[in-house]
Amino acid sequence: MDQKAIHFEPRPGHQHPYDSPILNITSSETRDNLEYAASLLKKNGNTVAFPTETVYGLGADATNDEAVRNIFKAKNRPSDNPLIVHIASLRQLRDLLRPVNLESTPTVQRYQQREDSKSGETRHDDDTSSGRNSSLSETFPATSSTGPTSETRSYNVDGHQSSEFSISDIPEIYMPLIQKFWPGPLTILLDLPQNTPLSKNVTAEQRTFAVRMPNHTIALALAHLSDLPIAAPSANASGKPSPTTASHVYTDLRGRIPLILDGGSADVGLESTVVSGLCSPPRILRPGGVSLEQIRACGGVWEDCIANTSQHDDHNAEEGNKKVGAEHIPLVPGMKYKHYSPRARVLLYEPGAKGPTASDLARSVRWNGKVGLLRTRQWKEGIGRVLVAELEEEKKSYRTNMNGRRGSVLSEQELSGTIAVVERALGNDGQDISRNLFAALRDMDDHGVDSIHIEGIAEDNEGLAVMNRLRKAASVVVRNVS
Ligand code: TXA
Ligand code: MG
Repeated sequence: MDQKAIHFEPRPGHQHPYDSPILNITSSETRDNLEYAASLLKKNGNTVAFPTETVYGLGADATNDEAVRNIFKAKNRPSDNPLIVHIASLRQLRDLLRPVNLESTPTVQRYQQREDSKSGETRHDDDTSSGRNSSLSETFPATSSTGPTSETRSYNVDGHQSSEFSISDIPEIYMPLIQKFWPGPLTILLDLPQNTPLSKNVTAEQRTFAVRMPNHTIALALAHLSDLPIAAPSANASGKPSPTTASHVYTDLRGRIPLILDGGSADVGLESTVVSGLCSPPRILRPGGVSLEQIRACGGVWEDCIANTSQHDDHNAEEGNKKVGAEHIPLVPGMKYKHYSPRARVLLYEPGAKGPTASDLARSVRWNGKVGLLRTRQWKEGIGRVLVAELEEEKKSYRTNMNGRRGSVLSEQELSGTIAVVERALGNDGQDISRNLFAALRDMDDHGVDSIHIEGIAEDNEGLAVMNRLRKAASVVVRNVS
């Protein structure tokens, strides 16, 4: 797919470029693939995996119970962990916030039409955007044999609605964040309106829903062409590191989903920041692609924004809730589950903690096996080779000193084991470390390592999200005791 062939133009007269944008696609192959994906989403509760700037998502029609159930099934995800709704325009968000006030407006027709198509009928109603979309999805074939062309088509989906809405349908508090970070890696929490069109399976019994506008043309085009709010968690098997390439998705979900749209490697590499402006002070429920510092820099009430204090022990959110008082601290519901874990055991070294010794490496694989090392800012390049050489020396002198003595701590089997090391650099810069982290964890599994020693970073800027994911993946955290 050619992302550069997808263009969104702002509609004149709107405060935000993605209020009601106009979509142009200049490659017929890309357009055909997107239209096929959109048609899948609109039929039979299908799921489609697609790229976003953070991680790949597994999307489905957020208004269709069965479609959303299919996401949970494909991922094997616990059903009490709610999903993020992805939108391509502020107009789509307003439709979600005002479903009951729109008697006989195009929005209601749109949902009505969806009901019709669920029951097998397709209406070719050119007065409504969805009527046009459904006819398009039938006109174009599922796969394309033609290459990119310079042909351009405009999708004028939102044109007739702009004057009916004001941006103020969306809570005022979020305006600075929306202006600054959308489209982008920020998810906001909103009160669920009465008679919401969203499936109850999206919200998992919460009274709020989470929504974001991703900064990836393929994701945006999919939400725009299908004219659906798209519910999408990360497209990994539940518990695994989130996927940052199409091949990660394929590894986890092959045979379980009908389509993966390939948009290359994710640029941000960690999931979006989930933030709530519904509590005071506002809170980051999950750190991610937009940092706490960036949010505070928006000024006003956002200067006081805080991050969930329970993130250091969020293996068990219920414990966190007890400590701080369940009513007051909105924890991200999914926090109680094991997350981001490669098959190998993860040992995380806090910044400033002493790095692993030769025998730490050996012990972590019971003196025989493959060890992974992920460096960031301080550990020296080649640390793995150095430690393996030290280990051989130590074993030699151990044999010499302990020879013939009783009470030897290391068995002959341990002494005769071999340790191989796979060492990788995640980078120095916070953005590089974020981008490389999940792929590196998966790469270590591909190399068959039994344990991974990871050099942590300071928890400011991107470091807060990086360390949040690593703490969840880790079985052991080596603290800085100085
Ligand atoms: O970057 C991302 O956010 C990616 C891409 C695909 O957009 N999506 C993602 O989704 O990470 P998922 O399902 O893996 O994580 C969604 C997070 C979970 O921690 C969930 O608990 C939280 O958002 N969440 C969703 N709805 C919520 C709600 N109503 N209240 C609190 N937290 C919510
Ligand atoms: Mg996830």
